[in-house]
Amino acid sequence: MCGIVGYIGHREAYPIVIKGLKRLEYRGYDSAGVMLYDGSDLKVSKTKGKVSDLEERSTKEISTSGTIGMGHTRWATHGVPNDVNSHPHLSNSGNLAIIHNGIIENYEPLKKELINRGYTFKSDTDTEVLVNLIEDVQKKDGLKLGKAVQVALNQVVGAYAICVFDKNKPDEIVVARLGSPLAIGVGENEFFIASDASPFIEYTSNAIYLEDEEMAIVRLHKPLKIRKIKDDSLVDPYVQELQMNLEQIEKGGYDHFMLKEIYEQPNVIKDTYRGRLHSTTGIIQMAGVEDNLEKFLNADRILIIACGTSWHAGLVAEYIIEEFARIPVEVEYASEFRYRNPIITPKDVVIAISQSGETADTLAAIKLAKEKGAFVFGVCNVVGSSISRETNGGAYTHAGPEIGVASTKAFTTQITVLTMMALRLAKAKGTLSNSDYFRYLQELELIPEKVLEALNTNDISKEIAAIYKDASNCLYLGRGYNFPVALEGALKLKEISYIHAEGYPAAEMKHGPIALIDEKMPVVVIAPKQGHYDKVVSNIQEIKSRSGKIIAIVTKGDVQVKELADHVIEIPETSDALSPLITTIPLQLLSYHIAVLRGCNVDQPRNLAKSVTVE
Ligand code: AGP
Ligand code: GLU
Repeated sequence: MCGIVGYIGHREAYPIVIKGLKRLEYRGYDSAGVMLYDGSDLKVSKTKGKVSDLEERSTKEISTSGTIGMGHTRWATHGVPNDVNSHPHLSNSGNLAIIHNGIIENYEPLKKELINRGYTFKSDTDTEVLVNLIEDVQKKDGLKLGKAVQVALNQVVGAYAICVFDKNKPDEIVVARLGSPLAIGVGENEFFIASDASPFIEYTSNAIYLEDEEMAIVRLHKPLKIRKIKDDSLVDPYVQELQMNLEQIEKGGYDHFMLKEIYEQPNVIKDTYRGRLHSTTGIIQMAGVEDNLEKFLNADRILIIACGTSWHAGLVAEYIIEEFARIPVEVEYASEFRYRNPIITPKDVVIAISQSGETADTLAAIKLAKEKGAFVFGVCNVVGSSISRETNGGAYTHAGPEIGVASTKAFTTQITVLTMMALRLAKAKGTLSNSDYFRYLQELELIPEKVLEALNTNDISKEIAAIYKDASNCLYLGRGYNFPVALEGALKLKEISYIHAEGYPAAEMKHGPIALIDEKMPVVVIAPKQGHYDKVVSNIQEIKSRSGKIIAIVTKGDVQVKELADHVIEIPETSDALSPLITTIPLQLLSYHIAVLRGCNVDQPRNLAKSVTVE
């Protein structure tokens, strides 16, 4: 994710762009930049850091006059956060400027082709490739900017919301979107462009939201024309009058960032495997894994270190990597690992998982593992974070900024990355049959739409939440791949609703926790059709015979558990190994609604910080 802002009109663009970027910083904040056109030349100022750093630098670096401008606050995907990788990016001629939200999946082959044609690149980003591709098309075919953008985008695979400016045609900004949001604010003889309406809501409530594969040439004194990128056909612009206030816009219309991020999961899971998962050719393309494949294949053991939700993702990965790639895996709390003088050998590969990339315990554990000779691979969500820089290699999740303290989309995107890694290792080791390998690839590609379907359990989760919101304890049970999901569901509930909750392997209940069961104890049981279904049904019967209240997560169409449980939440079927990506969804929603009904501060629960950067 990132924030894009553009303006063309009668006002000074700079203050509008800067204030707009500040409103969009929740979408990405590792670096920022601005482009202005003052009637004679195009000026760019950009920097690593916050929008406030950009404000300080740009007012010294360039004259901020001009009634056309655009700005970007970055959430890096390709190229660490630094000045040169910040947006806007200029084409080789310096005539074109671009800002971009998204990922150009095929930027590497496009870059090679452009280099062969004599183009040079200053940055490591995919975005700089796009602006030079547009320039190349423009020069080769003698096209105006709008047409050149259209032709270029038809060569691109990926996701984008872009603004492109040509100083030789300084009365327009060309915009286009696929997979990333782009809104156009329609004012009196002025236009605003942004990732959402927050930068322009105070100037106009009339907005046009581009749909996927649409583009427009935004220019003054001309009616706005929207076209399909593929075939240039015209689209009637639909101008909505927005009723949302600023806060609602930032939360995408949701009441809390946590709920917004729960609902972002279909898209961010897709963004995480975008450009990496090719289910038809069977190729999994993760540079960090390829560059270190031998280390993984020759490892005696994979040790996963993490904290909290990331530790739960590590537990899921243990089951998946051992099942698919037959490499022994151990999972440890980073806080325990770092103080117990662990036995580490150079034949150990350590995987460190962290959403923030700043968790002190995980960072310390990484340093200890490296001191002891291990190769450390990071799975982080923040490009350029401390952990991503400390590890020897890595793979990013592309979840975008996770604002809610309770981790949701980070969990599912971490599992997505780890599943792709497990499949890549299995393919290299031949420990999965070809048919199983392709089956998992195709099933992983279907997960976003199945998560979307699982989000339909929101209403039933809310109803159940109303019944159990005053519970003082809650038990979560799961088996196999869903044992870590039981732990994760319990963590979600306790950290945002302050209800004591525990996750357990379902079979473990009879070794003690069953003593807790009575008519006041809600028990959430994860019982999808796959895996150890019959055993879980027996556990449910044990709970029922002790008057426990059973909330069961079941595969759509299940009848057996429906007979036994007090409540069932039905989710779409998937393979056992991928089921955590689906079973966790109703648990996220259940904990969210219970917390809201209890009047808790869902996005900033008491005593908690989003990133635990201290011991
Ligand atoms: C999970 O909902 C919590 N916010 C917390 O347990 C978190 O997962 C943990 O602090 C690890 O953070 P990290 O992934 O940024 O390292
Ligand atoms: N992929 C582009 C980059 O890494 C844009 C990332 C974003 O959406 O901020 O610069």
